[in-house]
Amino acid sequence: MASTVYCMLLFPLLVMVVAFAGDLNKDFNITWGDGRANILNNGELLTLSLDKASGSGFQSKNEYLFGKIDMQLKLVPGNSAGTVTAYYLSSNGSSWDEIDYEFLGNLSGDPYILHTNVYTQGKGNREQQFYLWFDPTVDFHTYTIMWNPQRIIFSVDGTPVREFKNSEAIGVPYPKNQPMRIYSSLWNADDWATRGGRVKTDWTKAPFTASYRNFNAEACIWSSGASSCDQASSTSPNATSWLSQELDATGQERLKWVQKNYMIYNYCTDNNRFPQGLPPECNIS
Ligand SMILES: *[C@@H]1O[C@H](CO)[C@@H](O)[C@H](O)[C@H]1NC(C)=O
Ligand SMILES: *[C@@H]1O[C@H](CO)[C@@H](O)[C@H](O)[C@H]1NC(C)=O
Ligand SMILES: *[C@@H]1O[C@H](CO)[C@@H](O)[C@H](O)[C@H]1NC(C)=O
Ligand SMILES: *[C@@H]1O[C@H](CO)[C@@H](O)[C@H](O)[C@H]1NC(C)=O
Repeated sequence: MASTVYCMLLFPLLVMVVAFAGDLNKDFNITWGDGRANILNNGELLTLSLDKASGSGFQSKNEYLFGKIDMQLKLVPGNSAGTVTAYYLSSNGSSWDEIDYEFLGNLSGDPYILHTNVYTQGKGNREQQFYLWFDPTVDFHTYTIMWNPQRIIFSVDGTPVREFKNSEAIGVPYPKNQPMRIYSSLWNADDWATRGGRVKTDWTKAPFTASYRNFNAEACIWSSGASSCDQASSTSPNATSWLSQELDATGQERLKWVQKNYMIYNYCTDNNRFPQGLPPECNIS
């Protein structure tokens, strides 16, 4: 009897809060691409590919309302100009929330752009773009979205590159009520992706392939109107410590280092684009 009670308490905690890196078949569905997307090696590896006829994509089975979500990606190698690999969280409907990574390809040897954006209640226009301090096509690197009620932190191999703080106090909507799924796709965007659309996709190099592995989510899974974290945080506060995570002094230094050396676009400094004044969240540090 005692052991039954024990199991009933622990089972949902372990199974629902932490999805251990493992079988990608458990967490994701291929959603489009007609055979161009594949889960391989017993679920250890997922690949998306793009050719002239179509791209491909997948989405998470679960919906999440907050999480610390890691995925390792190895981007399209060689001449990837014109291709975009999008990896993001999104909710539904006309006032959706979205947290975006997009990887804009380039000619061999020229740098990818890491493009980020945050939509709240259907409104985006919050782009920040970066070069990376490594070639993202040679090896897998970890791209993390840490999304809790106070802030969203984008990190690459553990180095924070962007923080979007909850600024509801000054009237900026924050994503905190709509559960999101993880989505990813590889598609042709040669009308804008590379050098603003001046470099086109070279279809003689198709198919283009991006790879994914080691998905890990410490996350609140949303199901039938309830969060897996409600129970977890009362039973084991440490399991959900990321729910109040913030950048420590080292993290803030790293963020400054990236923004100083690798940031190539920041909507918050684009005065031409916002003649009526920069968005309000730009005025808080
Ligand atoms: C994923 O695929 C399974 C099996 O085909 C299906 O039952 C489920 O509804 C799908 N979920 C999503 C979110 O696409
Ligand atoms: C979005 O809408 C689809 C289809 O109605 C539904 O299955 C899904 O759960 C909704 N939510 C998210 C976050 O995708
Ligand atoms: C591609 O390389 C060119 C030349 O270095 C650079 O200006 C551009 O920002 C790079 N990235 C993209 C996606 O265009
Ligand atoms: C919870 O976290 C604190 C601080 O990190 C640590 O000292 C403590 O041992 C942890 N407790 C458990 C049960 O893991």
